[in-house]
Amino acid sequence: MAMIDHALQEFAHDALDARRRAALVALCSAAYEEDFAAYFDLLAGATHLLAEHDGAPVCHLAWVERRVWTGDGLALRAAYVEAVATRPDHQRRGLASRLLAEVPRRTAGFDIALLSPAEPEWYARRGWTPWRGTLHHRKDGRMIDDPDECVMYRRLARTPAAVDDRGSLCVDWRPLEVW
Ligand SMILES: CC(C)(COP(=O)(O)OP(=O)(O)OC[C@H]1O[C@@H](n2cnc3c(N)ncnc32)[C@H](O)[C@@H]1OP(=O)(O)O)[C@@H](O)C(=O)NCCC(=O)NCCS
Repeated sequence: MAMIDHALQEFAHDALDARRRAALVALCSAAYEEDFAAYFDLLAGATHLLAEHDGAPVCHLAWVERRVWTGDGLALRAAYVEAVATRPDHQRRGLASRLLAEVPRRTAGFDIALLSPAEPEWYARRGWTPWRGTLHHRKDGRMIDDPDECVMYRRLARTPAAVDDRGSLCVDWRPLEVW
């Protein structure tokens, strides 16, 4: 199917009006086939990137700022990409690929871009690399291993050359989904 030329729009989370916010929750709920309302609250402080069609969002992703620490002692300000979703009736038209391709330029002020993929191969085909080292999170002063998690990253313009994906990566705990 030919790709429709949707204009992309970027919004700070707090700048979403109630109608657009409800439409984004509906879009993510339809794509993920689960109620996304609680998860959407994790996106406080996020920047949203979306494509609209006939006045309604049909594709979305967001990034939130998270601090991560490498085993080599680097503290990185990460653009953590979340809620990549295309409305089912608009899938397989290249929309999510187009939004994802915007991420390196739009998050260039961060130290690295990260995400936790449901479909790692889909991201790998779009230039994202699995973090090979161990994953951990910090909670109540303790370091907890996350052996079952998968995280992928993209180097950005200011990613330190010393970042080595064979080392460990740690993030602070958060509710619902740590990674
Ligand atoms: C994963 C997801 C975001 C992809 O969205 P999408 O807009 O359909 O993605 P794209 O169209 O860019 O890519 C999907 C496929 O369609 C193909 N495609 C792209 N343009 C196309 C076109 N014009 N015609 C036919 N196929 C096309 C792509 O090649 C891609 O195939 P690939 O998987 O072999 O690489 C969407 O399926 C979704 O919302 N899934 C549920 C939520 C989810 O799992 N999100 C990711 C969690 S990390």
